[in-house]
Amino acid sequence: MHAPINPWSSQQSDDIEKLFSLFGIEPISSASGILPRVPSFISRGVVVGHRDYRHIAEAIRDSKPFHVLTGFMPSGHPHLGHLMVMKEVVWHVEQGGTGYITIADREAHAVRDISWAKCDEYGREYLQCLYALGYQGHTYFQSRNKHLLDLAFEAATKVNFSELQAIYGFSDETALAHAESVITQVADILYPQVDSPPAPTIVPVGIDQDPHIRLTRGVAHKLRMFTVEEREGYISVRSKNAPPAALDEVHRRYRGSKKYEGHVDIPGGKCIDVSAEVRQIEIAHGGYGFFTPSSTYHRFMPGLQGGKMSSSVPESTITFTEPDEVVRKKVMAALTGGRATLAEQKEQGGEPDRCPLFLLNLFHMVEDDAELMEIRRRCLEGELMCGQCKKETAVRVLAFIRDFRERMEAAAHLVKVE
Ligand code: TRP
Repeated sequence: MHAPINPWSSQQSDDIEKLFSLFGIEPISSASGILPRVPSFISRGVVVGHRDYRHIAEAIRDSKPFHVLTGFMPSGHPHLGHLMVMKEVVWHVEQGGTGYITIADREAHAVRDISWAKCDEYGREYLQCLYALGYQGHTYFQSRNKHLLDLAFEAATKVNFSELQAIYGFSDETALAHAESVITQVADILYPQVDSPPAPTIVPVGIDQDPHIRLTRGVAHKLRMFTVEEREGYISVRSKNAPPAALDEVHRRYRGSKKYEGHVDIPGGKCIDVSAEVRQIEIAHGGYGFFTPSSTYHRFMPGLQGGKMSSSVPESTITFTEPDEVVRKKVMAALTGGRATLAEQKEQGGEPDRCPLFLLNLFHMVEDDAELMEIRRRCLEGELMCGQCKKETAVRVLAFIRDFRERMEAAAHLVKVE
């Protein structure tokens, strides 16, 4: 399926595609066709890549259990840039997923030197935003979740410093707490499968988080007792570190199977059926039985001034506590994809696909596809000038922010710091 509106210039698009093929991330179109209903964050080209999203799309289609987890580092107030991933989580919960949100206070404290009190304050605000969007599910703060920290320790038995060096470029000077925050994120991603029964887990993130996803997928695999491999005419179940009784159990479960040193070969059969059975045996013998986590990658909304959207650059974004007048001013001062002169713009049209304000409309402010297409058309054809578009966008943004603030107020009582 091709995104009907591609908001990014081909240049950037080539870059991201190169990045994807370098790391083995697939285009979302290779899995989104399985979904009974494609959400607008996919059809509008915001979510562009994935690892193993197929398993999630199939679980949605077949009404099978799955989990959705993402995390937020409480290093500042939540802002417009955080909404996309929040919406992705809420959508997956609506499709039947069990929701998990982690507030990465350990990471904020270790990497950004944020005090614990500030972590609590910002963390609450993130959760309030999620509830304002209709989130239902589990939430926790890393530092308060003992089971998570135990899981992180277990995961740490499978990771060494040279791997951290290779993935993150850690050096001799890297603080140990930084490494700990990495392994805590690995545990975050696996946590739903420990807190609830193991199931495919979708982790919606920005591309910058992919190193954590890769590391976690490796750890999930290493923590399994068995691998199940399709061979010619048979399926081989190989023990990595399974207790002997668990391998015996696999042998007993399949008539006609042959047991060797460290593996059992099963003639015929389907790999996915055997995998499911073996997972149950693993769990019955005290193993985790993890499904390798899946991920999706979304593009970032550019800052209002172009460049990166970040809470450390106040003009680049809008938080949910700013007064109306500030919100309006920020929109009116935004960079747009206009031409040098009015005459030129009437003649050549604007460049919506590289315009921060158009993208703000595309990401969050205009829900109706037809209306969005019409804005784009009017811009492209030189009918809609930037000044007018800013005014119209400011009205939408103000209405959105006011409504959102009210929802946050109404959701405040749902927030738990635990
Ligand atoms: N590292 C993420 C960030 O910088 C936050 C995070 C912590 C996270 N745990 C996670 C994201 C688990 C996704 C999944 O924002």
